[in-house]
Amino acid sequence: MRIGILTGGGDCPGLNAVIRGIVRKGEGIYGHQFVGFRHGWRGVVENETVDLTVASTRGLIHRGGTILGTSRTNPYQSADGVSRLLDTLARQQIDALVTIGGEDTLGVAAKLSEPAPQGADVAVVGVPKTIDNDLSATDFTFGFHTAVQIATDAIDRLHTTAESHDRVMVVEVMGRYAGWIATYSGIAGGADIVLVPEEPFDIAEVCARIEHRHRRGSSFSIIVVAEGAAPREGTMESGGTSRGPVDQFGHVQLGGIGNTVGEEIGRRTGFETRVTILGHVLRGGTPTAYDRVLATRFGIAAIDAIEDGDFATMVALRGQAIERVPIADAVRQLKTVDRELIDVASVFFG
Ligand code: F6P
Repeated sequence: MRIGILTGGGDCPGLNAVIRGIVRKGEGIYGHQFVGFRHGWRGVVENETVDLTVASTRGLIHRGGTILGTSRTNPYQSADGVSRLLDTLARQQIDALVTIGGEDTLGVAAKLSEPAPQGADVAVVGVPKTIDNDLSATDFTFGFHTAVQIATDAIDRLHTTAESHDRVMVVEVMGRYAGWIATYSGIAGGADIVLVPEEPFDIAEVCARIEHRHRRGSSFSIIVVAEGAAPREGTMESGGTSRGPVDQFGHVQLGGIGNTVGEEIGRRTGFETRVTILGHVLRGGTPTAYDRVLATRFGIAAIDAIEDGDFATMVALRGQAIERVPIADAVRQLKTVDRELIDVASVFFG
């Protein structure tokens, strides 16, 4: 078989480990050939390819980013996007496609895999990628563990400087409309308050908790804010964090709520406050050992699914096992943080 591979959406530590796993087993054991598409769906629309072989994918396990490049191109956004994509697949004699991505990239894969005329009968298998961990039908996506570790390391470092200066430190982390990174790193880093998109916050309550904590003898506080966190309606001005152009999937760029929260805390409490926005640092660099293993297992499971002809599926982590689920299940609904985890974090608030 000739198999295409693409990586779409925001890059994520572990993408190269998935590619390496697919090619190693696909070429080495099943005898398949591979074609890499550059920059996500854009490479399929524009017929931009790169050969992928066992030799060209050696030494990738620890490398962050993606050797294929990525983009947020949506082939359904242009009039001839899907027909050009199908032309490329025919010209490249692609029998099946592995799409490694989050809800947007996999959403396109799910549509293409539907029978014609709604879809295009493309044989696809998906692999769940995103630092945000917001994909349904899998317990975890690869990249999330690395992002949480980077955020936790940062919070640890901010702790010592916060303590030395008697300051309130506000740390903003990515995660789009799910607070997974904020909640996990908040628990792991011993944050005093965590603000997540799942629960609009009241800045007066946040300040009251900080003041209470300082009255009880603490001289500093650590507040973790998810980039998608928003104030309860009518409680704080300028809570909006979306800015810039909308991408081809209709997403605005998030970020900056940490600055607003930091300013308000400083103004309302009088405590010296500093803000750190971690942003893309959470997506860069080497994957953790956990993500290298998960990404490798996903890659192997994806090529096994193709070998079995089990298309329109996504490989998923369920408990300790890697399973196959309908790809449409993964993109139907955003997976947000469950109440139980938010409750665990909140035991340590204030
Ligand atoms: O989906 C991953 C993610 O890192 C989000 O957490 C963040 O909101 C977004 O991508 C940032 O996208 P970009 O790299 O296009 O600015």
